[in-house]
Amino acid sequence: MNYHIVTYGCQMNIHESEKIAGILKEKGYGTESPIEEADIIVFNTCCIRENAENHAFGNIGALKQLKREKKNLIIAVGGCMAQEEGKAQILRQKFPFIDLVFGTHNLSELGDLIDRRRARRKAIVSLREERGETEAGIEPVRTSYPGAWVNITYGCNNFCSYCIVPYVRGRERSRKAEDVLREVRSLVAEGFREITLLGQNVNSYNSDGQGGMSFPELLDAVASVEGKFRVRFMTSHPKDFSEELARVMKKHEKICNLLHLPAQSGSNRILNLMNRRYTREKYLSEIAMLRSIIPDCPVTTDLIVGFPTETEEEFEETLSLVKEANFASAFTFVYSPRTGTKAAEMEGQIPEEVSKERIMRLVAQVNENTRNLSATFVGKTTEILCEDYDEKKGLYLGRNEAGRMGYFASERNLIGEFVELKVERANGVSLFGELVEKS
Ligand code: SAH
Ligand code: SF4
Ligand code: F3S
Repeated sequence: MNYHIVTYGCQMNIHESEKIAGILKEKGYGTESPIEEADIIVFNTCCIRENAENHAFGNIGALKQLKREKKNLIIAVGGCMAQEEGKAQILRQKFPFIDLVFGTHNLSELGDLIDRRRARRKAIVSLREERGETEAGIEPVRTSYPGAWVNITYGCNNFCSYCIVPYVRGRERSRKAEDVLREVRSLVAEGFREITLLGQNVNSYNSDGQGGMSFPELLDAVASVEGKFRVRFMTSHPKDFSEELARVMKKHEKICNLLHLPAQSGSNRILNLMNRRYTREKYLSEIAMLRSIIPDCPVTTDLIVGFPTETEEEFEETLSLVKEANFASAFTFVYSPRTGTKAAEMEGQIPEEVSKERIMRLVAQVNENTRNLSATFVGKTTEILCEDYDEKKGLYLGRNEAGRMGYFASERNLIGEFVELKVERANGVSLFGELVEKS
C-alpha cells in the first residue's frame, strides 16, 4: 500500500508531514508514491492567508474523479485549516468524498482514526481542543536529509492582530530540553548535518516552565553536542530577542550567523495595531546590537503590506526599513483578513489594487538587497552544505550559512558533505562557482 502527502504552509507543517508519514508507515502504507497510485492521500493544510486555503480547496476538489474510480482510496484532511473553526463542516459539504478530517491537536490519533475509517463506511471528523505535547513519541520519516527539523515549542501566545496561528495551534507549549537534546544527539549520530530548531517564537521557549531552561541556554546546549553539524533556529520575535542570545550565536561556530527576525512593518502606528509590542527604533537597535557582536550578521525578515488603515507614508516606512536594516532577504505578503482575528474586524481594509502596487515596490527593494548581499560573496570562498542534485542544471547545490544557495559541478555525489565553494557569479539568492580543496 502506498501513501501520498500534500503539504502547505510553514516548516512546522513540513516537519509535521514527516510525522504523518511515520504514522502511515506504522499502519502499513510502505512507500510514498505519486498521487494517482496512492491508497491514502493526506492533505496537511495551512490557513495563514486566504490563498493557502484556496490552494488546498482546489487540489482536494481535483480528486473527485480519482475517488470515484478508486473506491478504497482514503482521502484525509488535517492541519491548520482543518482545525479552523467551522472549516471541517465546509470541507465536508464542498467535498463529501473526504473520508477523514483531523486537527492539529490530535495528530497522534491519526493511526486509530484510519483504522476506524477502514472498519466502517462513514466519514470521520475528529477535532480536539489543545492537549499539551500532542506529537510525543511519533517517529518521523525524515525527507530533509542532510537537514532535520526539531520542534522546541508548539503553539503561540502572541496574538498578533492579523494572525490565525494562536487560534489553530493553541497556547505555547515547550518541549523538555532533555527531550530536544536527546533528539539532536541521535540525529547527529545518524549523520544529519543541519539541525533547525522550530517554534513560532523560539525566544519565549520555557514560558510555561516546561522546558527547564531558557532559549539561549538550550541553543548553547544544542550547539555543544559533539560532531560536525550546523544549527539554525526560527522564528525569533523582536519583542524578546536578547543580547544573551546574540552572544550564544557568537560563541558557537556551529550556529549559523543568520537571524530571521520578522519586522512585519516599519511604521510604529501599524506595529501597534498589529499588537507586535516593539517599535521600529527598538527593532533597529536590536539589529545594531546583534551586528556589534557579530559584524555584518545577515538578517532576514517577514513583511506585510496593506494592513488595515496603512497609509502610503506608513508603507514607505516599511520600504525604508528594508534599506535601513539592510535585510539579506525578506518574505513579503499582502495582508489577508482571517476570520476570528482582531484585524479582520478593523475599519479601513485596504483595496487590493493598492496592496498589489505596494507589494511590487516592496519586492523590487527586497530584490535589490538580495542582489547586493549575494554580490558580496563573488570572488570569495564560502562553505556549503551540499543538499541535493539539480538534474536540469546538472549541478549539485546547497546553502551557505547566510542561506545563499550555491551551485557547483562534481563528479562525486557530495550530498551531506560540507564543501568550499569559490564563488564566480551570483544571481538573486543563487551563487555559482567551483569547488576548492579544503586546506
Ligand atoms: N511566528 C512567526 C511566523 C508566523 S507566520 C512570526 O511571528 O514571525 C509567517 C508569516 O506570515 C508572518 O511572519 C507574517 O508576516 C505572515 N502572516 C501571518 N498572518 C498573515 C495574514 N493574515 N496576512 C498576511 N500575512 C500574514
Ligand atoms: Fe502569528 Fe504573531 Fe504568533 Fe507569529 S508571533 S505565529 S505572527 S501570532
Ligand atoms: Fe504554519 Fe500555516 Fe499553520 S504557516 S502554523 S501551517 S497556519
